[in-house]
Amino acid sequence: MSQTIGELLRRAVGDLQGGGIAEPQAAAEVLLADLLDLPRLSLFLDIHRGLNPLQCDAYAARIWRRLQGEPVQYIVGTQEFWSLSFAVTPAVLVPRPETELLVEYGVKHARQWLSHHRAAMPVLDVGTGSGNLAISLAHAVPQSRVWGVDISWDALQVARLNARSHTVADRVRWIQGDLSTPIRKTVPTFALCTANLPYVTTAEWERLPRDIKAYEPALALCGGEDGLDLIRRFVTMVPDVLASGGLVLLEVGWQQAKTVVDMLEQQGGFIDVGVERDLAGIDRAVWARKR
Ligand SMILES: C[S@@+](CC[C@H](N)C(=O)[O-])C[C@H]1O[C@@H](n2cnc3c(N)ncnc32)[C@H](O)[C@@H]1O
Repeated sequence: MSQTIGELLRRAVGDLQGGGIAEPQAAAEVLLADLLDLPRLSLFLDIHRGLNPLQCDAYAARIWRRLQGEPVQYIVGTQEFWSLSFAVTPAVLVPRPETELLVEYGVKHARQWLSHHRAAMPVLDVGTGSGNLAISLAHAVPQSRVWGVDISWDALQVARLNARSHTVADRVRWIQGDLSTPIRKTVPTFALCTANLPYVTTAEWERLPRDIKAYEPALALCGGEDGLDLIRRFVTMVPDVLASGGLVLLEVGWQQAKTVVDMLEQQGGFIDVGVERDLAGIDRAVWARKR
């Protein structure tokens, strides 16, 4: 039976609300706009348009997936980050808005670096996932040459696809391996190193909502008992891959900034160590500049 856009949206919002799904209106609109390949606003300009039974069934299937807890981003297959659209699959974490802080500070550092250096700027992104950080930096800094590392081969396939769609594939290399070990001896030292490594504690993991726990990769989230297993190991490696004056930028969990600052100060070799807050006022990024 044919139904109008308005009727479909009303029913979907009711179903999602009844199923206890967060932000039901936004989910219903995004899933329908993507299905019809329309901007979200156009749904309301076309609210009385009737959809054919195939379109209605396809929309019902999407709403059913969301009701099971599947994130909207995996259903539509994309997420916006730094105003770019990234393909996402269950092999990668859905990029979060707070991670844009690393791009913002990375770009700021790149401007300073490039005002003193003429050569191409080598950048390393560890735990690259969908490639959102590596590709956003490559996009924003045309003089950059970026290496993205991830332990997950499947994640790197998604990153590769994203680099092609943002036309930076010729300036980004993808390497599979553990933290910075695979590239240590093969490339020059880096002017900038970003890392959004897993930092969820074991106790936080237990309490995460089903939407995250059942769908996003545990490999991208779980950082051990105190969440810092990977960051702790990476802090010991990063001085070897950073150039003098180079910056490391680490995303951290809401209670971890002070501990990570202490780790970097104890590691030694850095001139400055500092913390940046995200838009919610949470200490979200820890940075250190190599002597
Ligand atoms: C929190 S996700 C970050 C993904 C993406 N950079 C972002 O900002 O949305 C962490 C990523 O680190 C990767 N990872 C986990 N352990 C790793 C390791 N030992 N070495 C390299 N990457 C690792 C995961 O596969 C995942 O893609």
